[in-house]
Amino acid sequence: MKACLFDLDGVIVDTAVYHFKAWRRLANELGFDFTEHQNEQLKGISRMESLERILSWGDVSLSPEEKETWAARKNEWYLAYVRQMTPAEVLPGVKDFLTTLHKNGIKIALGSASKNAPLILERIEMASYFDAVIDGTHTTRSKPDPEVFLLGAQALGFPPSDCIVFEDAVAGIEAAHRGGMKAVGIGSPEVLTEADLVVPGFTQLTLDQLFAL
Ligand code: BG6
Ligand code: MG
Repeated sequence: MKACLFDLDGVIVDTAVYHFKAWRRLANELGFDFTEHQNEQLKGISRMESLERILSWGDVSLSPEEKETWAARKNEWYLAYVRQMTPAEVLPGVKDFLTTLHKNGIKIALGSASKNAPLILERIEMASYFDAVIDGTHTTRSKPDPEVFLLGAQALGFPPSDCIVFEDAVAGIEAAHRGGMKAVGIGSPEVLTEADLVVPGFTQLTLDQLFAL
């Protein structure tokens, strides 16, 4: 292991909750609802692909212009949460873990589907922790396509086989594997069944566990 690639939403910070709340408001305003279980399918995928899935759950069809309008509305609701974020929202153990990686000469990149990733890194004052940042403005294909992680590995200058991905999304674990990388799931083993290792958070993870992968 020479490099680690981190998802952002749900791994570094719990913005996954804010995405869920904003998408649910959109569904409610369109006259339906969806469950937390369904929400798992939205994790890691792009804004427009998320919208398409949600609309199909509610059996709602919209014109391309209406889709753009609703996606922009959702993003405004989401950004209202993001603007209130502080560095205190970084998930437990994340900063210590990244510092340990750095001290051991391991390179670190962000690999996020979010176009809001740079803003979030700024809000939580963590931009300086990453040697490279690949976000939703750099990619053309959403997870489970491996593009975001392959670009991250390339930016750090290592082959996929030297990289480990950290993900809270089923689609993200699949993306890592399709890119030829190991994947550590952050969350529940019942959800992240394909991960090479699952931990509830970074306080429960050691470097030795990573090297053992
Ligand atoms: C991913 C999230 O990180 O980014 C998804 O898991 C989200 O829930 C996607 O839809 C796109 O984010 P944004 O901020 O560009 O709308
Ligand atoms: Mg995520």
